[in-house]
Amino acid sequence: MCGIIGINSNRPVSASIINSLKKLEYRGYDSAGIATLSKGLINEIKSEGRVDNLEKNSLIKNMEGTIGIGHVRWATHGAANSLNAHPHSSQNVSVVHNGIIENSTILKKFLINKGHKFKSQTDTEVIVHLITEHLKSEDMISSITKTLKQLHGSFALGIIFKDKPDLIVGARRGSPLAVGYGPNENYLGSDSYALKSMTNKVTYLNDGEFCIIKKDYVEFFNEGGTKINKKVLELSSEEEKYDKGDYKHFMAKEIEEQPTTLKNGIKEYVDTSNNDINIYNFPWKINEISSITLIGCGTAYHSCLMAKYWFEELTSLDVNIDIASEFRYRKNRFKKECLYVFVSQSGETADTFAALDLCKKNNMKTCAVVNVIESSIARDSDFVLPIHCGTEIGVASTKAFLGQILILYILALKLGLLKNDIERNLFLEKLKDLKELPKLVEQTLMTDNKIQSISTTFNEAKGSMFLGRGFSFPIALEGALKLKELSYIHAEGYPAGEMKHGPLALIEEGMPVVVLAPRDNYYKKTISNMQEVIARGAKVLLITNKSKDEIISENIWETIEVESTNDDLLPFLLTIPLQKLAYYSALKKGFDIDKPRNLAKSVTVE
Ligand code: F6R
Repeated sequence: MCGIIGINSNRPVSASIINSLKKLEYRGYDSAGIATLSKGLINEIKSEGRVDNLEKNSLIKNMEGTIGIGHVRWATHGAANSLNAHPHSSQNVSVVHNGIIENSTILKKFLINKGHKFKSQTDTEVIVHLITEHLKSEDMISSITKTLKQLHGSFALGIIFKDKPDLIVGARRGSPLAVGYGPNENYLGSDSYALKSMTNKVTYLNDGEFCIIKKDYVEFFNEGGTKINKKVLELSSEEEKYDKGDYKHFMAKEIEEQPTTLKNGIKEYVDTSNNDINIYNFPWKINEISSITLIGCGTAYHSCLMAKYWFEELTSLDVNIDIASEFRYRKNRFKKECLYVFVSQSGETADTFAALDLCKKNNMKTCAVVNVIESSIARDSDFVLPIHCGTEIGVASTKAFLGQILILYILALKLGLLKNDIERNLFLEKLKDLKELPKLVEQTLMTDNKIQSISTTFNEAKGSMFLGRGFSFPIALEGALKLKELSYIHAEGYPAGEMKHGPLALIEEGMPVVVLAPRDNYYKKTISNMQEVIARGAKVLLITNKSKDEIISENIWETIEVESTNDDLLPFLLTIPLQKLAYYSALKKGFDIDKPRNLAKSVTVE
């Protein structure tokens, strides 16, 4: 999942390309690079690591050229170094690529036999040499169509040609790509976000399409090379200003913004004057839906798992959940009366998008729960429920997770009411509690100091476990994911009742174990499981909610108490100390909190 930018203009473009690459860093930060055309030559500058490193290169300031392409990389083929950084170029052609070419090994052999020399370990370089090979006997358009036909896998491409100093070619299969229109200049970008500082007029390429971008017009073609017309969309011209403010990291800010996320979501969907939930323009009748399948990846998958518990509790729907990368290749039993819900902060995750695509091809009802409403998943779904949490920059999802589970809870409540699965009085009670939730999250956020000192023990341990039952189990998984991705500490989330079936063998003297045991229906059972790990030497951090009743256990290492609410809503509160634990562990270790190693914010490769 890399980021691509291209600019064709009358003015020098390198500074604008660098600015756009900074916006694209959420797609990858292993390396950055730029290529421009000037004086009949392709010029390339690349560097390992962040765009800042590229910008520091003394040659960048004087880089000439009114046409150029740029790239930020999330490494798939070949190490994260400057040799493998994009653009990749031959004497005639330079290419930036987002995606994976699955048949690159075979193509490379074929090209080496034809005398082509490879400089990098990337799959992308085969594209450069294939085009170069075709250009020996074909014109540009047929070189492009022939090359694209030979590629297996996914790609978004930006291509410039030494002998075509007036154009950039863009092509898409699987990975998103947008064209932008400016005054006397036009652009290519992985998404509209990268283009927003330059234009709000965009066209999205569909799978199989390619385009030729000139300074004053853009031509679009289908897979076969036939010209097609495409719509220009006008996006909101306001560029969202989002900075760290007084916070050290975006993640710290995003954790603190969660009461606002919840307030926004509640304001959007809850009609406080009529005590109802409004889901406007829901395109289906309630009796057309008898089951629901929720699909996502990573944290978004944990939101789906959380929702499964709520949908089962509040509705009579059959509930299934799936990890998108598994769903897309399984023999699924598609059911007409099933609502397929795709959960994704970015709305660009390749596996989730592919799962959506599969459902659409099978004429299923599709609904997106996304943060980015201009995203591919939002655009392609029948119905969208935005989570309204604002830009999330930290790679580790925090406020988007609470935003996702809020919207899924609201949907479960509404469908439960519409299907007469819950009584109106119970619905009203739950709605009343929901309105209090932002305040309770705010109060829970104030519990801070203890977590900082607790995080030291986690940092010194070989590994850790996060246990929960029922509504707390998805939160245990989420807590473990946050700790491992930020602090690089091995952390495993497990249903507390499953420990005795194997993982108990991992427990040894001093191992930190987080036990989520709020005073809900599962409380006593979870406390028994907690005793089992304490008996084997675990240092237990118990996270529960405030109560007048004493905790029925001894030998607990540390206890954190969150605020109290009804059982459904406790997961929101339990999440907060876990996010902070991960944050402080990484802070103490001095790791890059907003950009953990090996990761990216938007995962546009499978
Ligand atoms: C973890 C995290 C990831 C994402 C996953 C899906 O903190 O953020 O696990 O949840 O990559 O991303 P989206 O929600 O954009 O589809």
